[in-house]
Amino acid sequence: MGWTFEAWNEVKCAQVEAALAQWVPEQAPADLGQAMRYAVLGGGKRLRPLLAMAACESVQGEVHAALRAGCAAELIHAYSLVHDDMPCMDNDVLRRGKPTVHVKFGQASALLAGDALQALAFELLTPQDGSVSAAVQAQLCGLLARAAGEAGMAGGQAIDLASIGQQLSQAQLRRMHELKTGALLQASVMMGAACGNASKAQLTALQSYGQAIGLAFQVVDDILDVTADSATLGKTAGKDALAGKPTYVSILGMQPSQDLAKHLHLQALAALKTGELQQTQALHALADWVVARAY
Ligand code: IPE
Ligand code: IPE
Ligand code: MG
Ligand code: MG
Ligand code: MG
Repeated sequence: MGWTFEAWNEVKCAQVEAALAQWVPEQAPADLGQAMRYAVLGGGKRLRPLLAMAACESVQGEVHAALRAGCAAELIHAYSLVHDDMPCMDNDVLRRGKPTVHVKFGQASALLAGDALQALAFELLTPQDGSVSAAVQAQLCGLLARAAGEAGMAGGQAIDLASIGQQLSQAQLRRMHELKTGALLQASVMMGAACGNASKAQLTALQSYGQAIGLAFQVVDDILDVTADSATLGKTAGKDALAGKPTYVSILGMQPSQDLAKHLHLQALAALKTGELQQTQALHALADWVVARAY
């Protein structure tokens, strides 16, 4: 039988679930371990780990390192969601089909669970068993730190919160989305690449794939907030308009947003053809999957 995304996805997701279940500790003071595990386990598409592993395949890199890298990105993502949902940010009560972490454990525990997940991400990248070389560890830490911090997710979230009720220009909107969501997705791709000996051409191709798919993802998230229902999303639909968030849909309109998603999709696929990448089926299928959700 030939390669199918369904089969690939099932195998990789099972690896990710098992790794996360092993690496996110149950034992931590008070309810911290429970809150961390609640935030991470049992839900989520695992797109960031899948991107890291797919990118690793495309440069024939070290699979074990890519699993760590992908899980580390997933921990940063999970932490960002815990904080994003808190009353001081988006004030959401539903995430991945369950009550949000602060609803279940209280705000202080949610804050700490996010903090601890961020630190744990970097622990994952620095195993002490010699399984990942020091040079690769350093590269992975740098990529993830830059994507999570002020020039990435946290910076984008700051713009997001400062933009409530404002009419952003398209350039400002794009920058906000590239930072708050795109940076971590792009970093997931580049971390996968860092697990192999990628050539300059391969890195350039993956960079532009990651950038296109990273922006496409948040454009699609904005679309789904309007078109999908809460049961499908596992989070409260229709929140962006209610909260006065500038989104692609509110600024460009629905059809132009869908057209943009389509354009970015094609851009991502085109990038895959440019860099002498080895196996690109998974990256190709992930790009299809991200954008198909908007139709
Ligand atoms: C939701 O991300 C938050 C954004 C960055 C838009 P995902 O849609 O990847 O959430 P999960 O991980 O599948 O729950
Ligand atoms: C979230 O953007 C981006 C993050 C860094 C968490 P949103 O606020 O649109 O994500 P959802 O819609 O709550 O998942
Ligand atoms: Mg938000
Ligand atoms: Mg939100
Ligand atoms: Mg959203």
